[in-house]
Amino acid sequence: MTTRLLFVCLGNICRSPSAENIMNHLIEQRQLSDGPEGPAFGHRVVCDSAGTASYHVGSAPDRRMTQAAKAYGIDLVGRARQFDAFDFDRFDYILAMDRQNYRDILALDPAGQHRDKVRLMCDFCRTYPDKDVPDPYYGGPEGFTYVIDLLLDACEGLLDHISAHPVALSP
Ligand code: 4NP
Repeated sequence: MTTRLLFVCLGNICRSPSAENIMNHLIEQRQLSDGPEGPAFGHRVVCDSAGTASYHVGSAPDRRMTQAAKAYGIDLVGRARQFDAFDFDRFDYILAMDRQNYRDILALDPAGQHRDKVRLMCDFCRTYPDKDVPDPYYGGPEGFTYVIDLLLDACEGLLDHISAHPVALSP
C-alpha cells in the first residue's frame, strides 16, 4: 500500500519543501520506506510539495531554509512547482502549512469533494501549540530554525497517524 502526501505552502521554497524532506528523513529513520527487506509496515509513504503561488516555480529551496535544515542533518532537494486541481486526485493527504494556504487550496475545490483530504499540518503537532507553520521568508535565521523544529514535531505526529490509519488511493 502506498500513501501519497503533498505538503503545500505559498512559494514552495521554504516550509513545504522542508516538510517533504523532513518527512522523507523520518521515514528513512523509521525504515518505513522500501529497504532491502521491503517496507517495514507493508506500507510505503511517498512525499511531494507544491506552492499555492507561482512566483518561484522551478527554483531550488531558499538558501536560508537549506542552511537551517542542514544543521539537523537534513538535505533539502527539489524544485518549486505550483499546486493545481489535479493534485486532489494524485494525493491521499494534502497538508497546508497555514490557514491561508488551506483556504487557497479549498478554493480550487468549489464542490468540496476533496475537502476531507486537505488538512492543516499543525493539527498533527504533539508538542507545539501553533495553528500555522509561520512564514519565515521576511524574518531572521531563527524563524527558519523554528520552522524545522515545528515541522519535526508535526511530521512525527503525521507519520504516527498514517501508520495507525493507513489510507491510499490504490493498493
Ligand atoms: P514558503 O515561503 O511559502 O514557505 O515557501 C515564502 C516564499 C516566498 C514568498 C513568501 C513566502 N514570497 O513572497 O516570495
